[in-house]
Amino acid sequence: MTAKRTLTGREIYPIGFGAMNVSHCYQPRLPDAQGGRVLQAALDLGYTHFDTAAVYGHGHNEALIGTYLSHRRGEMVLTSKCGIVKDPDTGKRGINNRTDLIERSIDETLSLLKTDHLDMFYLHRWDKVTPIEEVVGAMGRLVEAGKTRALGLSEVSADTLRKAHATHPIAAVQSEYSLWTRNPEIAVLEECRVLGAAFVAFSPVARQFLTGKLSQVDGFCDDDIRNSMPRFEAATYAENMKLLPPYKAIADEVGCTMAQLALAWLLTRGDHVIPIPGTQNLDHLDENFRAADVTLSRDVVARLDALINERTVKGGRYSPAIQQQIDTEEFTV
Ligand SMILES: NC(=O)c1ccc[n+]([C@@H]2O[C@H](COP(=O)([O-])OP(=O)(O)OC[C@H]3O[C@@H](n4cnc5c(N)ncnc54)[C@H](OP(=O)(O)O)[C@@H]3O)[C@@H](O)[C@H]2O)c1
Repeated sequence: MTAKRTLTGREIYPIGFGAMNVSHCYQPRLPDAQGGRVLQAALDLGYTHFDTAAVYGHGHNEALIGTYLSHRRGEMVLTSKCGIVKDPDTGKRGINNRTDLIERSIDETLSLLKTDHLDMFYLHRWDKVTPIEEVVGAMGRLVEAGKTRALGLSEVSADTLRKAHATHPIAAVQSEYSLWTRNPEIAVLEECRVLGAAFVAFSPVARQFLTGKLSQVDGFCDDDIRNSMPRFEAATYAENMKLLPPYKAIADEVGCTMAQLALAWLLTRGDHVIPIPGTQNLDHLDENFRAADVTLSRDVVARLDALINERTVKGGRYSPAIQQQIDTEEFTV
Protein backbone atom coordinates (compact mmCIF):
# COMPACT_ATOMS: atom_id res chain seq x y z
CA MET A 1 0.00 0.00 0.00
CA THR A 2 1.11 3.57 -0.63
CA ALA A 3 2.78 4.92 2.50
CA LYS A 4 0.87 7.40 4.64
CA ARG A 5 1.27 11.07 3.77
CA THR A 6 1.69 14.12 5.96
CA LEU A 7 -0.63 17.10 6.29
CA THR A 8 -0.08 19.84 8.87
CA GLY A 9 2.51 17.63 10.53
CA ARG A 10 0.07 14.74 11.01
CA GLU A 11 0.16 11.36 9.31
CA ILE A 12 -2.90 10.75 7.17
CA TYR A 13 -4.23 8.02 4.90
CA PRO A 14 -2.90 8.86 1.41
CA ILE A 15 -6.38 9.49 0.02
CA GLY A 16 -8.62 12.04 1.71
CA PHE A 17 -12.39 12.51 1.63
CA GLY A 18 -13.88 15.50 -0.16
CA ALA A 19 -17.05 16.08 1.83
CA MET A 20 -18.56 18.69 -0.52
CA ASN A 21 -20.47 16.15 -2.59
CA VAL A 22 -22.93 15.15 0.12
CA SER A 23 -24.27 18.75 0.16
CA HIS A 24 -23.43 20.53 -3.05
CA CYS A 25 -22.31 20.65 -6.66
CA TYR A 26 -23.24 17.41 -8.41
CA GLN A 27 -26.25 15.19 -7.73
CA PRO A 28 -29.11 16.67 -5.66
CA ARG A 29 -28.21 16.98 -1.98
CA LEU A 30 -28.61 13.77 0.02
CA PRO A 31 -31.12 13.73 2.88
CA ASP A 32 -29.14 14.56 6.02
CA ALA A 33 -29.35 11.09 7.59
CA GLN A 34 -27.98 9.55 4.40
CA GLY A 35 -25.23 12.19 4.06
CA GLY A 36 -24.31 11.53 7.70
CA ARG A 37 -24.06 7.81 6.95
CA VAL A 38 -21.59 8.51 4.13
CA LEU A 39 -19.46 10.68 6.44
CA GLN A 40 -19.46 8.05 9.19
CA ALA A 41 -18.69 5.28 6.70
CA ALA A 42 -15.70 7.26 5.43
CA LEU A 43 -14.28 7.57 8.94
CA ASP A 44 -15.04 3.91 9.72
CA LEU A 45 -13.25 2.78 6.54
CA GLY A 46 -10.08 4.64 7.56
CA TYR A 47 -10.20 7.99 5.75
CA THR A 48 -8.44 10.37 8.14
CA HIS A 49 -8.57 13.67 6.22
CA PHE A 50 -11.90 15.45 5.67
CA ASP A 51 -12.22 18.50 3.47
CA THR A 52 -15.10 20.99 3.63
CA ALA A 53 -15.72 24.72 3.06
CA ALA A 54 -18.05 27.46 4.27
CA VAL A 55 -19.58 27.72 0.79
CA TYR A 56 -20.49 24.02 0.44
CA GLY A 57 -24.25 24.25 0.81
CA HIS A 58 -23.68 27.62 2.56
CA GLY A 59 -22.94 26.01 5.91
CA HIS A 60 -24.85 22.78 5.30
CA ASN A 61 -21.72 20.68 4.77
CA GLU A 62 -19.94 21.98 7.86
CA ALA A 63 -23.10 21.53 9.95
CA LEU A 64 -23.47 17.93 8.74
CA ILE A 65 -19.89 17.15 9.73
CA GLY A 66 -20.50 18.84 13.08
CA THR A 67 -23.60 16.73 13.68
CA TYR A 68 -22.27 13.36 12.55
CA LEU A 69 -18.52 13.45 13.21
CA SER A 70 -17.70 15.99 15.91
CA HIS A 71 -17.72 13.31 18.64
CA ARG A 72 -14.83 11.69 16.72
CA ARG A 73 -12.93 14.92 16.02
CA GLY A 74 -9.63 13.48 17.28
CA GLU A 75 -9.63 10.81 14.57
CA MET A 76 -9.36 13.22 11.65
CA VAL A 77 -7.46 16.07 10.09
CA LEU A 78 -10.24 18.57 9.38
CA THR A 79 -9.90 21.40 6.87
CA SER A 80 -12.29 24.14 5.81
CA LYS A 81 -12.15 27.25 3.63
CA CYS A 82 -13.14 30.89 3.51
CA GLY A 83 -13.25 33.69 0.98
CA ILE A 84 -16.20 32.66 -1.21
CA VAL A 85 -19.22 34.40 0.22
CA LYS A 86 -22.92 34.83 -0.38
CA ASP A 87 -23.92 38.46 -0.81
CA PRO A 88 -26.45 39.17 1.97
CA ASP A 89 -28.54 41.37 -0.38
CA THR A 90 -28.49 39.50 -3.70
CA GLY A 91 -27.78 35.98 -2.43
CA LYS A 92 -25.20 35.70 -5.24
CA ARG A 93 -21.90 33.87 -4.84
CA GLY A 94 -18.86 36.13 -4.85
CA ILE A 95 -15.23 36.22 -3.82
CA ASN A 96 -14.38 38.62 -1.04
CA ASN A 97 -11.22 38.46 1.10
CA ARG A 98 -12.06 41.34 3.46
CA THR A 99 -10.28 40.45 6.66
CA ASP A 100 -13.27 41.12 8.94
CA LEU A 101 -15.29 38.65 6.84
CA ILE A 102 -12.55 36.03 7.14
CA GLU A 103 -12.45 36.45 10.93
CA ARG A 104 -16.23 36.09 11.13
CA SER A 105 -16.12 33.12 8.74
CA ILE A 106 -13.84 30.99 10.92
CA ASP A 107 -16.01 31.58 13.97
CA GLU A 108 -19.10 30.42 12.05
CA THR A 109 -17.17 27.45 10.67
CA LEU A 110 -15.97 26.34 14.12
CA SER A 111 -19.46 26.71 15.52
CA LEU A 112 -21.03 24.62 12.71
CA LEU A 113 -18.30 21.97 12.91
CA LYS A 114 -18.68 21.88 16.72
CA THR A 115 -14.95 22.10 17.27
CA ASP A 116 -12.60 24.64 18.82
CA HIS A 117 -10.01 24.45 16.04
CA LEU A 118 -9.40 23.49 12.42
CA ASP A 119 -6.31 21.63 11.30
CA MET A 120 -6.13 23.86 8.26
CA PHE A 121 -8.01 26.93 7.09
CA TYR A 122 -7.75 27.58 3.36
CA LEU A 123 -8.31 30.75 1.45
CA HIS A 124 -10.77 29.22 -1.05
CA ARG A 125 -10.17 31.87 -3.69
CA TRP A 126 -7.91 34.91 -3.68
CA ASP A 127 -9.97 37.96 -4.75
CA LYS A 128 -6.90 39.48 -6.51
CA VAL A 129 -7.90 42.83 -4.95
CA THR A 130 -6.74 42.48 -1.37
CA PRO A 131 -2.95 42.00 -1.34
CA ILE A 132 -2.24 38.33 -0.60
CA GLU A 133 0.19 39.38 2.16
CA GLU A 134 -2.64 41.26 3.89
CA VAL A 135 -5.05 38.31 3.63
CA VAL A 136 -2.50 35.77 4.84
CA GLY A 137 -1.35 38.16 7.58
CA ALA A 138 -4.92 38.27 8.92
CA MET A 139 -5.28 34.50 8.61
CA GLY A 140 -1.96 34.08 10.47
CA ARG A 141 -3.54 35.82 13.45
CA LEU A 142 -6.15 33.03 13.48
CA VAL A 143 -3.30 30.54 13.89
CA GLU A 144 -1.92 32.61 16.78
CA ALA A 145 -5.40 32.64 18.34
CA GLY A 146 -5.48 28.81 18.18
CA LYS A 147 -8.48 28.70 15.82
CA THR A 148 -6.57 26.82 13.15
CA ARG A 149 -3.32 24.87 13.27
CA ALA A 150 -2.22 25.88 9.77
CA LEU A 151 -3.08 27.82 6.61
CA GLY A 152 -3.68 26.75 3.02
CA LEU A 153 -4.47 28.39 -0.32
CA SER A 154 -6.65 27.14 -3.17
CA GLU A 155 -6.23 27.66 -6.94
CA VAL A 156 -3.24 30.01 -6.66
CA SER A 157 -0.18 30.46 -8.83
CA ALA A 158 3.36 29.65 -7.70
CA ASP A 159 4.09 33.37 -7.47
CA THR A 160 1.14 34.03 -5.15
CA LEU A 161 2.14 31.00 -3.08
CA ARG A 162 5.68 32.35 -2.67
CA LYS A 163 4.44 35.80 -1.59
CA ALA A 164 1.98 34.28 0.86
CA HIS A 165 4.54 31.88 2.28
CA ALA A 166 6.92 34.77 2.97
CA THR A 167 4.21 36.27 5.20
CA HIS A 168 3.11 33.10 6.99
CA PRO A 169 3.99 29.42 6.34
CA ILE A 170 1.54 27.82 3.92
CA ALA A 171 0.97 24.16 4.75
CA ALA A 172 -0.87 23.19 1.56
CA VAL A 173 -2.17 24.31 -1.79
CA GLN A 174 -5.43 22.75 -2.95
CA SER A 175 -6.12 22.92 -6.69
CA GLU A 176 -7.71 20.84 -9.41
CA TYR A 177 -5.34 18.10 -10.53
CA SER A 178 -5.88 14.89 -12.46
CA LEU A 179 -4.79 13.30 -15.71
CA TRP A 180 -7.07 15.70 -17.58
CA THR A 181 -6.14 18.85 -15.61
CA ARG A 182 -2.38 19.23 -15.58
CA ASN A 183 -2.04 22.94 -14.70
CA PRO A 184 -0.28 22.32 -11.35
CA GLU A 185 2.56 20.69 -13.31
CA ILE A 186 3.44 24.08 -14.82
CA ALA A 187 4.83 25.40 -11.53
CA VAL A 188 2.84 25.09 -8.33
CA LEU A 189 3.40 21.39 -7.70
CA GLU A 190 7.15 21.91 -7.67
CA GLU A 191 6.87 25.11 -5.62
CA CYS A 192 4.91 23.20 -2.96
CA ARG A 193 7.65 20.56 -2.84
CA VAL A 194 10.34 23.22 -2.48
CA LEU A 195 8.46 25.01 0.32
CA GLY A 196 7.59 21.78 2.14
CA ALA A 197 3.85 22.26 1.54
CA ALA A 198 1.41 19.50 0.65
CA PHE A 199 -0.46 19.57 -2.64
CA VAL A 200 -4.10 18.54 -2.21
CA ALA A 201 -5.62 17.45 -5.53
CA PHE A 202 -9.32 18.25 -5.90
CA SER A 203 -11.61 16.77 -8.57
CA PRO A 204 -9.11 13.87 -8.81
CA VAL A 205 -11.44 11.59 -10.79
CA ALA A 206 -12.17 14.48 -13.19
CA ARG A 207 -15.69 15.08 -11.87
CA GLN A 208 -16.53 11.46 -12.83
CA PHE A 209 -15.05 11.47 -16.37
CA LEU A 210 -12.11 9.24 -15.37
CA THR A 211 -14.33 6.67 -13.68
CA GLY A 212 -15.84 5.68 -17.03
CA LYS A 213 -19.30 5.79 -15.42
CA LEU A 214 -20.41 9.07 -16.97
CA SER A 215 -21.58 8.43 -20.50
CA GLN A 216 -24.38 11.04 -20.71
CA VAL A 217 -23.89 14.74 -19.99
CA ASP A 218 -27.40 15.96 -20.78
CA GLY A 219 -29.13 14.73 -17.63
CA PHE A 220 -27.42 16.77 -14.90
CA CYS A 221 -29.62 18.44 -12.28
CA ASP A 222 -30.01 22.24 -12.63
CA ASP A 223 -27.38 23.21 -10.08
CA ASP A 224 -24.79 20.63 -11.21
CA ILE A 225 -21.54 22.55 -11.64
CA ARG A 226 -20.68 20.59 -14.81
CA ASN A 227 -23.52 22.34 -16.71
CA SER A 228 -21.26 25.38 -17.12
CA MET A 229 -18.01 23.56 -17.86
CA PRO A 230 -16.78 23.52 -21.49
CA ARG A 231 -15.39 19.99 -21.19
CA PHE A 232 -18.85 18.67 -20.36
CA GLU A 233 -20.59 20.25 -23.38
CA ALA A 234 -22.02 17.31 -25.33
CA ALA A 235 -19.84 17.55 -28.46
CA THR A 236 -16.63 18.23 -26.52
CA TYR A 237 -17.38 15.46 -24.05
CA ALA A 238 -17.97 13.02 -26.90
CA GLU A 239 -14.47 13.85 -28.18
CA ASN A 240 -12.96 13.34 -24.72
CA MET A 241 -14.79 10.01 -24.34
CA LYS A 242 -12.61 8.66 -27.15
CA LEU A 243 -9.73 8.65 -24.65
CA LEU A 244 -11.53 6.21 -22.37
CA PRO A 245 -11.29 2.83 -24.18
CA PRO A 246 -7.45 2.81 -24.17
CA TYR A 247 -7.55 4.17 -20.61
CA LYS A 248 -9.85 1.31 -19.56
CA ALA A 249 -7.50 -1.17 -21.25
CA ILE A 250 -4.68 0.08 -18.99
CA ALA A 251 -6.91 -0.24 -15.90
CA ASP A 252 -7.78 -3.81 -16.91
CA GLU A 253 -4.10 -4.62 -17.42
CA VAL A 254 -3.23 -3.20 -13.97
CA GLY A 255 -6.20 -5.01 -12.42
CA CYS A 256 -7.98 -1.99 -10.97
CA THR A 257 -11.00 0.16 -11.78
CA MET A 258 -10.74 3.33 -13.85
CA ALA A 259 -11.39 5.53 -10.78
CA GLN A 260 -8.62 3.72 -8.90
CA LEU A 261 -6.25 4.21 -11.83
CA ALA A 262 -6.87 7.97 -11.75
CA LEU A 263 -6.15 8.13 -8.01
CA ALA A 264 -3.15 5.79 -8.15
CA TRP A 265 -1.65 7.94 -10.93
CA LEU A 266 -1.96 11.02 -8.68
CA LEU A 267 -0.16 9.20 -5.87
CA THR A 268 2.84 8.73 -8.19
CA ARG A 269 3.20 12.51 -8.69
CA GLY A 270 5.09 13.13 -5.45
CA ASP A 271 4.95 12.18 -1.80
CA HIS A 272 3.36 15.54 -1.08
CA VAL A 273 0.34 14.92 -3.36
CA ILE A 274 -2.92 14.03 -1.59
CA PRO A 275 -6.04 13.32 -3.71
CA ILE A 276 -9.46 14.05 -2.18
CA PRO A 277 -12.19 12.35 -4.24
CA GLY A 278 -15.79 13.10 -3.30
CA THR A 279 -18.79 10.81 -3.49
CA GLN A 280 -22.30 10.23 -2.19
CA ASN A 281 -22.06 6.53 -2.91
CA LEU A 282 -20.84 3.96 -0.38
CA ASP A 283 -19.47 1.59 -3.03
CA HIS A 284 -17.50 4.42 -4.67
CA LEU A 285 -16.23 5.47 -1.22
CA ASP A 286 -14.78 2.00 -0.71
CA GLU A 287 -13.44 1.75 -4.28
CA ASN A 288 -11.64 5.11 -3.97
CA PHE A 289 -10.19 4.16 -0.57
CA ARG A 290 -8.63 1.00 -2.03
CA ALA A 291 -6.84 2.95 -4.77
CA ALA A 292 -3.99 3.36 -2.29
CA ASP A 293 -3.34 -0.39 -2.71
CA VAL A 294 -2.72 -0.01 -6.46
CA THR A 295 0.90 0.18 -7.59
CA LEU A 296 1.74 1.49 -11.05
CA SER A 297 4.89 0.66 -12.98
CA ARG A 298 6.92 3.41 -14.66
CA ASP A 299 5.80 2.08 -18.02
CA VAL A 300 2.12 2.37 -17.07
CA VAL A 301 2.61 5.92 -15.74
CA ALA A 302 4.36 6.91 -18.99
CA ARG A 303 1.55 5.48 -21.10
CA LEU A 304 -1.08 7.30 -19.02
CA ASP A 305 0.89 10.54 -19.33
CA ALA A 306 0.99 10.19 -23.09
CA LEU A 307 -2.69 9.25 -23.39
CA ILE A 308 -4.50 11.90 -21.30
CA ASN A 309 -2.90 15.32 -20.96
CA GLU A 310 -3.41 19.02 -21.79
CA ARG A 311 -2.84 18.36 -25.49
CA THR A 312 -5.23 15.41 -25.85
CA VAL A 313 -8.13 16.72 -23.73
CA LYS A 314 -10.62 19.05 -25.43
CA GLY A 315 -12.26 22.07 -23.82
CA GLY A 316 -11.44 24.38 -20.92
CA ARG A 317 -12.09 23.30 -17.37
CA TYR A 318 -14.03 26.44 -16.43
CA SER A 319 -16.33 28.88 -18.24
CA PRO A 320 -14.64 32.21 -19.13
CA ALA A 321 -16.40 33.99 -16.22
CA ILE A 322 -15.22 31.48 -13.62
CA GLN A 323 -11.78 31.26 -15.23
CA GLN A 324 -11.29 34.96 -14.45
CA GLN A 325 -11.61 34.19 -10.74
CA ILE A 326 -8.73 31.72 -10.84
CA ASP A 327 -5.11 32.69 -10.18
CA THR A 328 -3.40 29.50 -11.40
CA GLU A 329 -0.98 29.18 -14.33
CA GLU A 330 -2.71 28.07 -17.54
CA PHE A 331 -1.43 26.18 -20.58
CA THR A 332 -1.44 28.10 -23.82
CA VAL A 333 -1.92 25.08 -26.13
N1 LIG B 1 -10.78 24.01 -3.52
C1 LIG B 1 -11.72 24.02 -4.44
O1 LIG B 1 -11.98 25.03 -5.09
C2 LIG B 1 -12.48 22.74 -4.71
C3 LIG B 1 -13.26 22.63 -5.88
C4 LIG B 1 -13.94 21.43 -6.09
C5 LIG B 1 -13.84 20.38 -5.18
N2 LIG B 1 -13.09 20.53 -4.06
C6 LIG B 1 -12.94 19.43 -3.07
O2 LIG B 1 -12.53 18.25 -3.75
C7 LIG B 1 -13.45 17.19 -3.49
C8 LIG B 1 -13.56 16.29 -4.71
O3 LIG B 1 -13.74 17.03 -5.91
P1 LIG B 1 -15.00 16.86 -6.86
O4 LIG B 1 -16.13 16.27 -6.11
O5 LIG B 1 -15.18 18.17 -7.54
O6 LIG B 1 -14.49 15.87 -8.00
P2 LIG B 1 -14.23 14.30 -8.11
O7 LIG B 1 -13.99 13.70 -6.79
O8 LIG B 1 -13.22 14.17 -9.18
O9 LIG B 1 -15.60 13.77 -8.75
C9 LIG B 1 -16.82 13.65 -8.05
C10 LIG B 1 -17.81 13.01 -9.01
O10 LIG B 1 -17.32 11.72 -9.37
C11 LIG B 1 -18.19 10.69 -8.91
N3 LIG B 1 -17.35 9.61 -8.36
C12 LIG B 1 -16.44 9.67 -7.35
N4 LIG B 1 -15.86 8.47 -7.17
C13 LIG B 1 -16.39 7.64 -8.07
C14 LIG B 1 -16.21 6.27 -8.39
N5 LIG B 1 -15.33 5.51 -7.73
N6 LIG B 1 -16.95 5.74 -9.41
C15 LIG B 1 -17.85 6.48 -10.09
N7 LIG B 1 -18.08 7.79 -9.83
C16 LIG B 1 -17.36 8.36 -8.83
C17 LIG B 1 -19.11 11.34 -7.93
O11 LIG B 1 -20.40 10.77 -8.03
P3 LIG B 1 -20.96 9.71 -6.93
O12 LIG B 1 -21.42 10.55 -5.78
O13 LIG B 1 -22.05 9.01 -7.65
O14 LIG B 1 -19.81 8.82 -6.57
C18 LIG B 1 -19.16 12.79 -8.40
O15 LIG B 1 -20.11 12.93 -9.45
C19 LIG B 1 -14.74 17.90 -3.10
O16 LIG B 1 -15.56 17.07 -2.31
C20 LIG B 1 -14.23 19.09 -2.34
O17 LIG B 1 -13.93 18.73 -0.99
C21 LIG B 1 -12.39 21.69 -3.83
